[in-house]
Amino acid sequence: VMGNPTNIFWHESTVGKTERQNLINQQGCVVWITGLSGSGKSTLACSLNRELHSRGKLSYVLDGDNVRHGLNKNLGFSSEDRTENIRRVGEVAKLFADAGLICIASLISPYRKDRDACRAMLTDANFIEAILLFCVFMNMSLEVCERRDPKGLYKLARAGKIKGFTGIDDPYEPPLNCEIMIEEKDGVCPTPCDMAGQVVSYLDENGFLH
Ligand code: PPS
Repeated sequence: VMGNPTNIFWHESTVGKTERQNLINQQGCVVWITGLSGSGKSTLACSLNRELHSRGKLSYVLDGDNVRHGLNKNLGFSSEDRTENIRRVGEVAKLFADAGLICIASLISPYRKDRDACRAMLTDANFIEAILLFCVFMNMSLEVCERRDPKGLYKLARAGKIKGFTGIDDPYEPPLNCEIMIEEKDGVCPTPCDMAGQVVSYLDENGFLH
């Protein structure tokens, strides 16, 4: 049963967040990448991770596919399980950001309410509504994703061999309030380097790469 835990107490840390951040000279945040399967989330996560590393910033990728091998291996793709998948990754991302890292979360995260819940969780009350989560929307059409079909899953979903596949017979609710949008320009998809560059510029403009 979920709910507020009873007889459990919060312990304040003796080392504060600011102290940690000063030690590693960076400010933690979460870059939350959402989009259809095959929209390029993992590709962006990888190239962004590499680019941040080369700029001397400590980052860490939480990828849906990978997290589902460990922390979330007891979860499937029902709407309840997807909600729990997003909630857990949101909580872990919050811990990473609190530790001072730039956490890159890359999940389909198809439901608006789940993404909004993560955003609310990552709004830092200590900094009067300072948003620590930046949402990146991979705005690629289903046609593009299905044509790519890197794992052959759309084909299986179309054949009815996978039920409840996002974009086919399970919904994807596009964000209404994303900070960064990745999309085709003149019918051409951006390269991994271009996509990472777009996010890096945003982080830089918002003081996360000083
Ligand atoms: S979610 O919706 O956010 O909980 O999904 P996520 O944890 O990101 O996992 C998505 C990857 O799981 C594979 N897969 C499916 N995706 C969507 N719907 C169904 N039914 C499904 N079954 C398996 C798929 O490889 C997704 O990988 P990506 O990286 O998104 O292409």
